Amino acid sequence: MSTHAKPVAAFDLVIFGGTGDLAMRKLLPALFRRFADEQIPLQSRILGVAREDQADGEYRDRVREALEKAVGGDDALGAKIDDFLELVSYHPLDATSDDGWDDFARELTRIDDHVRVFYLSTSPRIFVDICERLRQHGLNGDGARVVIEKPIGHDLASATEINDAVGAVFAENQIFRIDHYLGKETVQNLLALRFANVLFEPLWNAAHIDHVQITVAETVGVEQRGPYYDTAGALRDMVQNHLLQLLCMVAMEPPASLDSDAVRDEKLKVLHTLKPINAENAAQTTVRGQYRAGAANGGSAPGYLEDLGQPSSDTETFVALKAQVCNWRWAGVPFYLRTGKRMPDRVSEIVIHFRDIPYSIFEAGSGAIRANKLVLRLQPDEGVKLWLMAKYPGPGGLRLQAVPLDMSFAEAFGVQQPDAYERLLLDVVRGNLTLFMRRDEVEAAWRWIDPILAAWENSNNSPRPYAAGTWGPSASVALIERDGRTWHDGDGQ
Ligand code: BG6
Repeated sequence: MSTHAKPVAAFDLVIFGGTGDLAMRKLLPALFRRFADEQIPLQSRILGVAREDQADGEYRDRVREALEKAVGGDDALGAKIDDFLELVSYHPLDATSDDGWDDFARELTRIDDHVRVFYLSTSPRIFVDICERLRQHGLNGDGARVVIEKPIGHDLASATEINDAVGAVFAENQIFRIDHYLGKETVQNLLALRFANVLFEPLWNAAHIDHVQITVAETVGVEQRGPYYDTAGALRDMVQNHLLQLLCMVAMEPPASLDSDAVRDEKLKVLHTLKPINAENAAQTTVRGQYRAGAANGGSAPGYLEDLGQPSSDTETFVALKAQVCNWRWAGVPFYLRTGKRMPDRVSEIVIHFRDIPYSIFEAGSGAIRANKLVLRLQPDEGVKLWLMAKYPGPGGLRLQAVPLDMSFAEAFGVQQPDAYERLLLDVVRGNLTLFMRRDEVEAAWRWIDPILAAWENSNNSPRPYAAGTWGPSASVALIERDGRTWHDGDGQ
């Protein structure tokens, strides 16, 4: 991959939960790609930490296997795995016991001038124990950073507790609350599109935009994550963080700079302006669903309860909702959010629907004039599509048709799109907090989510069933169609 990536200074990165799924599938492959791209110096150290006892060699073998899987058939990349493994070591540690911590601290402090990153890829239940032990061993000094994964708590009270406990050990500017959606290329491109072009910003308001849709659809079910997922559900797992962060990036005012607090202040204002959804309006503005068995991924897929191995559950695997940003820019412009598992396609996109033209000068037979749409595709095929009306070529009268100006980032720039974690992990090393959530943002998001959860809990309804391989319960279609609008359907206009 050709790159303009600047190397960072040598660092130490400790992954708590170093044998887990996230470490093997995302974190280590992301670090490896940055290493292969010569962005990570050879003096850096990557320390996997978990409870089980195993030697460095065994751990490296597991990492090798994960990396081979991640690089697929790319031989040139594969040839660099051995060099990368030189950086990797393993330390058995239990966050709830003293054993091994002295040795671990000694090993870390052997090199004193490295930035130290502690990535807590563990259950949030042990965040507090880990932070406390890091403090006891003097590992929370100025050069230290801690990364915490979502979900940060399961409601406002538990998130506040975690934030208080982590905040007692690390200063806010040492805490990196990761939301990997903010590391996706298209999300960062949203900043470029909005603030590096003059075209869109004058139109970016209620006078010209009819509504916004944000869809994050996955084809997978809950896979091996049932025990976690069943305590979370789609609202906590996806909406509280990823979808609300996307909404903030679309709706925020231009920040004064890309300084982390300038951006996060603007996102926070958006969260504060969201109209509450509670027992009074949840039935009209939200739909929750749970997948049943159905035809999916070219075969047949089991239902959620079968995946979970439980006879019953009221956990939602699908949410659609209508959010309102109550300020001058967005008054009356609904933001429809939708996310679900076992959908027909894996697609994440933000669709900005502009308003209809005020008056048509064209004859009735010229074809329907569709409102313009700007589609920001996060995955797959990251890119931007602007749907415009154009004249169909040739004689035979003036016939109008919607056609897209279509830009795939991979084609336009001729480079493979990096995984979100590649960017975010190196931002942690550099100390750049712009793409990470500040404490007040996380708490403001929970403040908006909690009343929705309460309204659902207090209603006598269960999530509506939908067949695997469909776009969710029909009520989610009704949610948007009641307003005279429809969900964007891929290439259709
Ligand atoms: C995670 C959720 O944060 O995001 C998962 O916990 C979900 O449930 C995943 O599958 C989706 O991420 P991506 O990058 O594959 O869209």
